[in-house]
Amino acid sequence: MLKILVLNGPNLNMLGVREPGIYGSATLADIEANLLEQAKGLNVQLDFFQSNHEGALIDRIHSAYGAEDGILINPGAFTHYSYALRDALSTVALPVVEVHLSNIHTREAFRHVSVIAPVAVGQIAGFGPQSYELGLAALARKLKMA
Ligand code: DQA
Repeated sequence: MLKILVLNGPNLNMLGVREPGIYGSATLADIEANLLEQAKGLNVQLDFFQSNHEGALIDRIHSAYGAEDGILINPGAFTHYSYALRDALSTVALPVVEVHLSNIHTREAFRHVSVIAPVAVGQIAGFGPQSYELGLAALARKLKMA
């Protein structure tokens, strides 16, 4: 069975509390529970990891090498400036789909740039928790076509 690592970066553990006008009321646990339901239908296995620490995310990406088939990632604010996270993703060379709850392109200028996007298969932004669902469906389809 295909294995997909679902990674969440800084402050995403605070979903539900954090700026609900932007990020909605669903918690990360709600989003993960939805993805687990979806994964049954897609016949994929999910592993989840969230950290507020860049190095911990990088270590988790490294341990995906040889162990997972793809990565679904919401890098949080690291999206906009973490070359180290981007390098970790290109190091393991697994297919990556980048997701965001908010539409980063309609927000502050600093959010318009993603340093992760160039190493991703694609990016889905602006659909709230549904961004994760769309991202998982797209990644699973991509992996099954490979
Ligand atoms: C986010 C968008 C980022 O700009 C922000 O720093 C986040 C969340 C999103 O899911 O919309 O932490 O990745």
